Amino acid sequence: MSLIEAQKRVLSGMRPTGRLHLGHYHGVLKNWIQLQHEYDCMFFVADWHALTTHYEEPAVIQDNVWQMVIDWLASGVNPGSAELFIQSRVPEHAELHLLLSMITPLSWVERVPSYKDMVTKSNERDLSTYGFLGYPVLQSADILIYKAGKVPVGADQVPHVEMTREIARRFNHIYGRDAGFEELAEEAIKKLGRKNAKLYRDLRRDFMEQGLQGSLDTAVALVSDQQNIPLGDRDRLFGYLEGGGKVILPEPQALLTEASVMTGLDGQKMSKSYGNTITLREAPDSVDKKIKTMTTDPARIRRTDPGDPDKCPVFKLHEVYSDDNRRQWAREGCTSAGIGCIDCKKPLIEAVLAEQQPMRERARQYEENPDLVKSIIAEGCEKARSVAKSTLEEVRAAMGLDYR
Ligand code: TRP
Ligand code: SF4
Repeated sequence: MSLIEAQKRVLSGMRPTGRLHLGHYHGVLKNWIQLQHEYDCMFFVADWHALTTHYEEPAVIQDNVWQMVIDWLASGVNPGSAELFIQSRVPEHAELHLLLSMITPLSWVERVPSYKDMVTKSNERDLSTYGFLGYPVLQSADILIYKAGKVPVGADQVPHVEMTREIARRFNHIYGRDAGFEELAEEAIKKLGRKNAKLYRDLRRDFMEQGLQGSLDTAVALVSDQQNIPLGDRDRLFGYLEGGGKVILPEPQALLTEASVMTGLDGQKMSKSYGNTITLREAPDSVDKKIKTMTTDPARIRRTDPGDPDKCPVFKLHEVYSDDNRRQWAREGCTSAGIGCIDCKKPLIEAVLAEQQPMRERARQYEENPDLVKSIIAEGCEKARSVAKSTLEEVRAAMGLDYR
């Protein structure tokens, strides 16, 4: 696989620690659904990651793995466009995690911003384990084993992607410089032919001396286009461009998912831990009840009291579900006491139900036929495994482990 192709690969994972809700849909899944048309996407259930925090509750993970896959499919993730798989079914992640752990400085994992915080603040669980410390290294292995170019994540995960880049850089630095690297790279340049060799050298110089990103991109494209050079030379030419050794593990980029706008039933961010969610496939009468009993502006006690939409969680839902007209209607009706809270909530209930209707329908065929879900996952696991195996072979060889 060329670096250019790798740059088109998108990889992301989700931990199966609870049922997905509308916050996940608006924050993450809609983004995945968009990306699956533009990139070569791989989405996986991060069950090992779930175990790093929920090792005492294996039943939670077990329950949520298949439900989560059904939720993905229900919301429109398309197994024809994206590969869906389960982390623990691709054991190569674990071997790469082990190998990367050999070169990862302890200080890097200890200084991950969320780490110390989570260990000290989590009073529900004991997170002072070796596995939890290694969480970002496992995540790096998830990403690097597919040489993914882009990783859609929320802001909280950006430090993990950053660390993945550092681990990749360190790996390439240590293992990408075989003896005589520079001479080999010079030999490889000659194989490009006179014209392309000159172009390569010019572009490399522009990038190395002036940091021109455009020159680097053009040079990467130039090397990618060469059909007849051996794979080792190709990797060397990529690495040499940036002044390093062979690029065995390319550095990924975070694709920042915009912060979720979804408000929960109580006005806080929608989250399982606040118990303020509407799940993706929540039964319609339960949706109706949850929204009808939602808190409103606490100052609006009687129907005749005017309210302040900016102090009301219900109005936040109008921001997600209503167009300008209806938002205007709600604001005016509220501030003038022209409408009651029940009137204000009614179109919202309808909008949520309408959003969920196609999801419920799509989910039904999978709920009724679990084998269908299993076969989608089996296929995804197989494809993922074949990529993972080939990366791992390169990694083993680079680390001198190919004497078996
Ligand atoms: N740590 C991520 C989260 O909590 C889940 C995850 C695990 C992940 N491995 C990944 C996300 C690899 C992106 C890429 O949300
Ligand atoms: Fe909230 Fe709507 Fe009631 Fe105003 S009318 S307080 S915005 S629910």
